[in-house]
Amino acid sequence: MRRSAESIGSVGVVGGGLIGLSWAALFAARGLEAVVYDPEPAVEEELAAFVATAWPTLREIGLAEAETPVLAPRFTTELADLASVDFVQENVPDRIEIKRQTIALLEEVIGEDVVIASSTSSLLASDIQAEAKHPGRILVGHPMNPPHLVPLVELVAGEATSPETMDLAEAFYQRLDRITVRVKKEAVGHIANRLSSALYREAVHMVAEGIASVSDIDKTVAYGPGLRWALIGPHLMYHLGGGKGGLRHYLEHLGPTQEVRWRELGTPSLTQEVKDLLLAGVAEELQEQDDETLAARRDAALVELLRTKQRHGL
Ligand SMILES: NC(=O)c1ccc[n+]([C@@H]2O[C@H](COP(=O)([O-])OP(=O)(O)OC[C@H]3O[C@@H](n4cnc5c(N)ncnc54)[C@H](O)[C@@H]3O)[C@@H](O)[C@H]2O)c1
Repeated sequence: MRRSAESIGSVGVVGGGLIGLSWAALFAARGLEAVVYDPEPAVEEELAAFVATAWPTLREIGLAEAETPVLAPRFTTELADLASVDFVQENVPDRIEIKRQTIALLEEVIGEDVVIASSTSSLLASDIQAEAKHPGRILVGHPMNPPHLVPLVELVAGEATSPETMDLAEAFYQRLDRITVRVKKEAVGHIANRLSSALYREAVHMVAEGIASVSDIDKTVAYGPGLRWALIGPHLMYHLGGGKGGLRHYLEHLGPTQEVRWRELGTPSLTQEVKDLLLAGVAEELQEQDDETLAARRDAALVELLRTKQRHGL
C-alpha cells in the first residue's frame, strides 16, 4: 500500500444519513476535503445544515479551529465525483447487498489502493469484502453516534483485510483525534454494541419481570455505575472495587457472587406486552421533556464531559 495516513487530504463519504453527515463534519473540522455521495438530492441541504449546527461544538471541543469550515464538505449524487479521494468512509444502509453493491460501484471509480472503511454496526468485514475486487483494502471502521462527538472507532479486519490497511486506517483515525480499538476476532456487534446489548438485555428483562420500572432502571445507570463507566471501564472498575488487593482480591473473594448473578440474568423476548411496557415507561419518564431538548442537553453535557476527561488524563 503506497498511501500513508498523513498523505490523506480528501475523504469520500458514501451515504449521507445520520452517520455520514456527522463524519463529514468531523473530516471538515480536521481540515480534510469531504465529498459526500448520496443518491438522495435532499441530502445536500441536510449536509449544510448539519455542518452549520455541529461547527460551534467542534470548535468547543478543540477539533475545529477556524470560525467556519475552510473546506466545506461538498455534496454529489454522482459516484464518479469520488474518483480522486484518498480514503472512503462508507455509511450506506446496514444491509449486506447494499454494502456489496456500493463497493462494486466504488471500485470502478476510486484508486486500487484507497482504503474503504465501513461504518457498519452489525455486519462482518469478511462478508462486506467477499465479492470485492480488492478486498485487502476493506475494513470495518465503526463509530458511535454521533461520530463527530464520540471519539471511539472500532477497527475490524475481515479475513482478506491486509495488515497495511489496518495500520493506515488506525493512523488516519488517530490523526483525527479518534480513540481506536481493534477487535481481534470478528463478532456481530463488535465490542461496543455487544456491551450495550448485554446491558439492555438485562434492563428489558427487569422491566418484563417487574423487578423495577423503566425510569428507575435508567436512573440507576445514569446516577450509579454509568457515572464511573464514562471514566473507566468495567475491568478497572472491579480492580478498584477489590480495594488494596485489586482485581485479584475481587476475583477470589467476590468472583463467586458475580457468577451467581450471571446465572440469574435473563434473556427477554420483545413480545407486544414487553414492548408496550417499555413504551409506556419511556413516555412516563420523559413527561414534559421533548426529545430535542433531551438530545441537546445530552450533547451539551457530553462536550463538557469530554473536556473534563481530557483535563484529568482519562
Ligand atoms: N445510527 C447509528 O446509531 C449508527 C451508529 C454507528 C454506525 N452506524 C452504521 O452506519 C451506517 C449508516 O447508518 P445511518 O444510521 O447513518 O443510516 P441512515 O438511514 O440515516 O442513512 C443511510 C443513507 O444512505 C443513503 N443511501 C441509500 N442507499 C445508498 C446507496 N446505494 N449508495 C449511497 N447512499 C445510499 C440514504 O439515502 C441515506 O442518506 C450503517 O451501516 C449503520 O450500521 C449507525
